[in-house]
Amino acid sequence: MNRAPGHMVTSSRAVRVVFLGPPGAGKGTQAKMLQERYGFRQISTGDMLRANVARGTALGLEAKAFMDAGGLVPDDVIVGMMEGELGSAAGSTGSSFILDGFPRTVGQAVSLDEMLQRMGLPLTAVLLFDADRDTLVARLTGRWTNPRSGRTYHAVFNPPKTAGIDDDDGEPLVQRHDDTRDVVLDRLATYDEKTKPLIDYYAGTGLLERIDGLGAIDEVTGAVFGALDLPAGTEPA
Ligand code: AP5
Repeated sequence: MNRAPGHMVTSSRAVRVVFLGPPGAGKGTQAKMLQERYGFRQISTGDMLRANVARGTALGLEAKAFMDAGGLVPDDVIVGMMEGELGSAAGSTGSSFILDGFPRTVGQAVSLDEMLQRMGLPLTAVLLFDADRDTLVARLTGRWTNPRSGRTYHAVFNPPKTAGIDDDDGEPLVQRHDDTRDVVLDRLATYDEKTKPLIDYYAGTGLLERIDGLGAIDEVTGAVFGALDLPAGTEPA
């Protein structure tokens, strides 16, 4: 199920969390769930980059070739983009946010620490989602995405009520250019090489919690709420 219960629940604590894990592990799915349930802002560098590509901005033009090839957009581009985004997040949403897909290199993680220290908003958690390679490939090659909202479905695991149409806003769903099998394999290799070292980076901070991404979406959501010590109740607080 991709639906969150209708009620938004209030958390009295700030939650500033990094969602780490390979492509297809369920980071975006769970970030959207937290955003809907608690109002925490999902900050997805992938969604931001795709929006820039769609608008044809200079940043989008620079990023597109890296994204289409399953590589990473250079750190200076990403860090520049996130400086602005985190500044506005700090001012406009209290201080809770979910970083979905950032940082992705040790260099980005060091820059993030510096930014958050300047803002006085340290991370409260880092969740590492994982699943085996065959599952990741099956999830990504069957994924359908709403390009406007970033909401995702899956042809088999989480189908929309009407094929090709978003349940929420009726937008047509598309398959991402980088969700073909060949590019997915390149993205997984990039993750192993560039992003996996972040597991050691965060292991030393005491913030890292592992989430088994293999269960059903609702089960993973329960594990996320538990790891973040959030009220999972279906009634509003
Ligand atoms: P980005 O958009 O961040 O892609 P990604 O990290 O590859 O992550 P995905 O969105 O593919 O996976 P996800 O874990 O969010 O899975 P989802 O929840 O959708 O980045 C795209 C590109 O932009 C990168 O390759 C790079 O080029 C560039 N980029 C972005 N950030 C960057 C950065 N910081 N630095 C440099 N470059 C950057 O789930 C996948 C599917 O599985 C869905 O269909 C979903 O319905 C289904 N599903 C989810 N959970 C379950 C479950 N528990 N059971 C069954 N199905 C499930």
